[in-house]
Amino acid sequence: MSAIELAKGIFWVGVNDRETDLFESVWPLPQGVSYNSYLIVDEKVALIDTVKGPFALELVRNIEEVLDPGKLDYLVVNHMEPDHSGALPLIRRLAPNLKILGTEKARGLLKALYGIEEGFEPVWDGQKLSLGRHSLIFYETPFVHWPETMMTYLPEEKILFSGDAFGGFGALDGGLFDYELDLARYEPESLRYFSNIVGMYTNPTQRAIQRLKGLEIRTIAPSHGPVWRKDPSRIVGLYDRWSRMEGEPGVVLIYGSMYGDTELLAERVARGVIAKGAPLRVMDASRTHPSFLLAETWRYKALILGAPTYDGGVFVPIEQFLRLAQRKRLQHRLVGLFGSFGWSGGAVKAMRSIIEELKWELVGPVVEFNGRPTEAELEQGAALGRAVAERVLKGSE
Ligand code: FEO
Repeated sequence: MSAIELAKGIFWVGVNDRETDLFESVWPLPQGVSYNSYLIVDEKVALIDTVKGPFALELVRNIEEVLDPGKLDYLVVNHMEPDHSGALPLIRRLAPNLKILGTEKARGLLKALYGIEEGFEPVWDGQKLSLGRHSLIFYETPFVHWPETMMTYLPEEKILFSGDAFGGFGALDGGLFDYELDLARYEPESLRYFSNIVGMYTNPTQRAIQRLKGLEIRTIAPSHGPVWRKDPSRIVGLYDRWSRMEGEPGVVLIYGSMYGDTELLAERVARGVIAKGAPLRVMDASRTHPSFLLAETWRYKALILGAPTYDGGVFVPIEQFLRLAQRKRLQHRLVGLFGSFGWSGGAVKAMRSIIEELKWELVGPVVEFNGRPTEAELEQGAALGRAVAERVLKGSE
């Protein structure tokens, strides 16, 4: 995508990545991702963040649509992760007088990742830098997502360049701004981005949101995904809710099944949830990447887990999902459990143990059955679904 003017003299010069299969070599990108870089042309010229290394030439071409990259005075590093700093060495070669601005913590990462020490100037929290008509104010927001992260505010246009915060997966389909794009496609990918990438850092995200409260923000320009101009409070509100781990009143049912027996019970549990009128999403853990399972678990207040016993423990895809939730420190969830076994139990016990570590609250009857569930056991499954749904709806009254 070519350069796009956000305001007079301020341009998006980022790139769309529809080639990378796995973000950070872990997280699938079915809709791609954008690396947003911003150019401010004034008496002094500043670039805010770059892009992932393989896309450096595309970034340079976008800058060249506006001006000669050799005229860059400043590179503002909001975040050193290579999806934003990968093109930094090339930009530095093209702009020999470039000053690289970042938090003191960025210094070590700049040296470690690129062997660069010269030209770096640390900025401090609240520091203001005049570019001419425009100025930049830097706010340290450590651990949203790495320790060196900061945000950059442009007061004259009230634009917040927020880094990873308020970002999301999804390449920009022809538009840049929230009002140009189908948010029904982008918001679930923002949630998946938040829960899997930033989710471990909920407290730093809350601190950053509190810190921004005094700022008048007309536009939020994150490092990934849409630029929020029509309603910046929408993405701030979503990040606020997600980082408080509140959960919407609804249920995600995540199950695994080798030969259909656990699935049979899952279907009856689902009927129980729906009978009580709670929103429900059913997901097969064997056929869904854990990042999607985590996102839906982050969305809803309650989950119901079902798994067969495998190797005397819990079915591998369910264990992988639970370990991911544990890694990301997801809290404050209600959980229902069911599991099957062939000759001796193990799945329910193993799930219970991880859930205790997570401090999630167990709700409803735990249904454990041998082989194919009987009608009585299926009815217990429906009772489990009803109990979880009732509880989650009661909590939302
Ligand atoms: Fe988009 Fe933490 O990098």
